[in-house]
Amino acid sequence: MGTTERKKINIAQPTGKLGVLIPGMGAVTTTFLAGLESLRRGFYPPFGSLTQMGHIRLGRRDAGRQPRIKDVVPLAQLDDIVCAGWDVFPDNCYQAAQKAGVLTQEQLAQVKDYLISLRPMPAVFDRRFVKKLDGPNVKKAATLWDKHVMLAEDIEKFRAQSGAQRLVMIWCGSTEAYLQLSDVHKTLEAFEQGLKKNDPAISSSMVYAYTALKNKIPYINGAPHFTTDIPALLELAQERGVPIAGKDFKTGQTLMKTIVAPGLKARLLGIEGWFSTNILGNRDGEVLEDPESFKSKEVSKLSVLDTILQPDLYPELYSKLHHQVRINYYPPRGDNKEGWDNIDIFGWMGGRMQIKINFLCRDSILAAPLVLDLVLFTDLAQRATMPGIQEWLSFYFKSPMTAPSVYPEHDLFIQLTKLKNTLRYIIGEELITHLGIEYYNYFD
Ligand SMILES: NC(=O)c1ccc[n+]([C@@H]2O[C@H](COP(=O)([O-])OP(=O)(O)OC[C@H]3O[C@@H](n4cnc5c(N)ncnc54)[C@H](O)[C@@H]3O)[C@@H](O)[C@H]2O)c1
Repeated sequence: MGTTERKKINIAQPTGKLGVLIPGMGAVTTTFLAGLESLRRGFYPPFGSLTQMGHIRLGRRDAGRQPRIKDVVPLAQLDDIVCAGWDVFPDNCYQAAQKAGVLTQEQLAQVKDYLISLRPMPAVFDRRFVKKLDGPNVKKAATLWDKHVMLAEDIEKFRAQSGAQRLVMIWCGSTEAYLQLSDVHKTLEAFEQGLKKNDPAISSSMVYAYTALKNKIPYINGAPHFTTDIPALLELAQERGVPIAGKDFKTGQTLMKTIVAPGLKARLLGIEGWFSTNILGNRDGEVLEDPESFKSKEVSKLSVLDTILQPDLYPELYSKLHHQVRINYYPPRGDNKEGWDNIDIFGWMGGRMQIKINFLCRDSILAAPLVLDLVLFTDLAQRATMPGIQEWLSFYFKSPMTAPSVYPEHDLFIQLTKLKNTLRYIIGEELITHLGIEYYNYFD
């Protein structure tokens, strides 16, 4: 369909419960769950969540229509969300949240009963992909195929017990080691054979994703490793008509980068160097100490500047850019990450300048509302029959998935425009181009 043609989209209403399935119940997940329940009990406004707080302009700028997104887009209600997950540690989510150390004891006490009720199911886990981690709560079976069958049984049990009518899976587990594309990833047939033969190139996250897609459950990847990027799983998502989204939640330093870089580029200021370093003391930081897990993260973090700055079009400004990213595991800081960016820029007549950013951010505080929005929007995509890659959700990711023919869009503001126009499109409203000549007497 051409870009200007409009099609009436029938969106199934979000009736009944929405089940959220979460592999990995660590810092991000427990912060999301505690926040979700706190929102439902009315303790806090939904800070950071576009689906809950965001407004959307509809129609002309002088029409004054700026409703909240959730009032015009048929999204699932917070009270209808039910959650379950898997982890290699058996701690319930109250214990896991305490270990994660993101929220205060008072905040956790307010929703303690809810968090205690959430106990992770045994995980599909292979230490080869996360060397720094080991835990007892894992599935034991001869083949990856058997583990996939066990996951499918977990899901069916949860569906029956919770009464969920729709499901979405979102990976909030650790970052897995960087993987090269191999033959077993290339077709669905090869992948299914690989599951049966325990092919070493199939990671744990791929087993979860395969199980989700096979059961027509959308899959979202919050970590930087490859999962649904492989041709076999892309094929499965299309075949089953299921949305997929990813990858790597855009929080912290990369969020800042995709806010600042488009501004410098817009003013045609050159960048000679961008050095980013972080100290981080949570389990995610520990996992990223392993060079293979860090490689997945590094690839994801480094890619953003290239597509924003387009050095091929602006060689005088950006072709010599030296971009370096470091993450250091530093236990005393726990989840309270500190990031430093030093940006060496130049302007008119080559005049040199520097920008320093010191972001004392809370990674999981930034990531939790993204989990909520992604779950709600991906469920919307499923009900609006939008299978495959959800590029309009790039806004939430460091390393957005796109159609093979296009480069990813990293500029946060283009991403937001794209997201809002997609919502307008889905609900049958005019797209907004920001041209605005209708308010002036030009070209008469
Ligand atoms: N916090 C952020 O802002 C942010 C931003 C971008 C990406 N991420 C990614 O999100 C993920 C979660 O981050 P976090 O801070 O919650 O990390 P975390 O270490 O606190 O939690 C991850 C959990 O996943 C579990 N796990 C690992 N492999 C698993 C498997 N195969 N099955 C089930 N559980 C498994 C671990 O035991 C752990 O409890 C990481 O991959 C991280 O890189 C986080």
